Amino acid sequence: GKVRAPTHIISTISDDRGEEPCYAGVPMSSIIENGYGVGDVISLLWFKRSLPRYCTQFIEICIMLCADHGPCVSGAHNSIVTARAGKDLVSCLVSGLLTIGPRFGGAIDDAARYFKGAYDRSLTPYEFVESMKKKGIRVPGIGHRIKNRDNKDKRVELLQQFARTHFPSVKYMEYAVEVENYTLTKANNLVLNVDGAIGSLFLDLLAGSGMFTKQEVDEIVEIGYLNGLFVLARSIGLIGHTFDQKRLKQPLYRHPWEDVLYTK
Ligand code: ACO
Ligand code: LMR
Repeated sequence: GKVRAPTHIISTISDDRGEEPCYAGVPMSSIIENGYGVGDVISLLWFKRSLPRYCTQFIEICIMLCADHGPCVSGAHNSIVTARAGKDLVSCLVSGLLTIGPRFGGAIDDAARYFKGAYDRSLTPYEFVESMKKKGIRVPGIGHRIKNRDNKDKRVELLQQFARTHFPSVKYMEYAVEVENYTLTKANNLVLNVDGAIGSLFLDLLAGSGMFTKQEVDEIVEIGYLNGLFVLARSIGLIGHTFDQKRLKQPLYRHPWEDVLYTK
């Protein structure tokens, strides 16, 4: 038989050795000939399989809706300040990306983990939220700085609308909405945010599409794939803000003294 020297790297998602590169076994030419989009490419490179159209469309909607949220949010602010310090594109991009985390944009995986844990254990929203409170953990996917009961997040509504029309089941999302109904009794801004909407709906996508085994769903949630959607999406906006500042030839940013409370 064949004898192979042991390798230092194992790779299972793409192969560039043949006449044309393949993503999860699918040659580039088929990707183009079949009119695949970025959602299909994400399916191949992240999930190692082709997913049904409604799933790839959902992925694309997440990317489009999370691409930017104005200049005032943490990520854009960092990229803007970095651009104004005269730094290169990659530095501006990563400086913005580094703000993505448990409070900003990076709560999707934890939202999926906690909503799944609570739903699968049949906790009522009251039991779930109060148990989180006892542990001193804010419910990931709940709460927003500027959105509230009377000024709901349009992105959340659009994602929910799409899923209600196209997904076979939206049980995790419905659970997240019940949690929101309960948290809204506590404070006006404790709405289901875009991280929570994507986290719960991706659980529905994974569980309802018939494309993943239960173990695979658990592995995806455990490893934490879903913050990748926000990172990828928001890179589009952060790059845009960087170009904008450079185009506008904005000078070095210095925060005004008046906006700092100097105290001992
Ligand atoms: N779960 C439970 N209680 C909460 C939550 C939550 N998710 N968020 C706020 N509260 C309550 C707490 O009682 C909090 O008091 P504490 O500081 O003693 O915990 C109180 O509301 C006030 O909190 P603030 O910090 O003033 O709320 P703020 O408006 O600044 O926070 C934030 C917004 C950071 C999004 C917050 O709601 C949170 O941490 N949510 C969970 C993480 C999350 O989902 N982040 C993603 C946001 S969407 C995005 O970034 C794209
Ligand atoms: C975002 O998408 O950046 C936001 O939801 C955060 C914010 O404060 O607007």
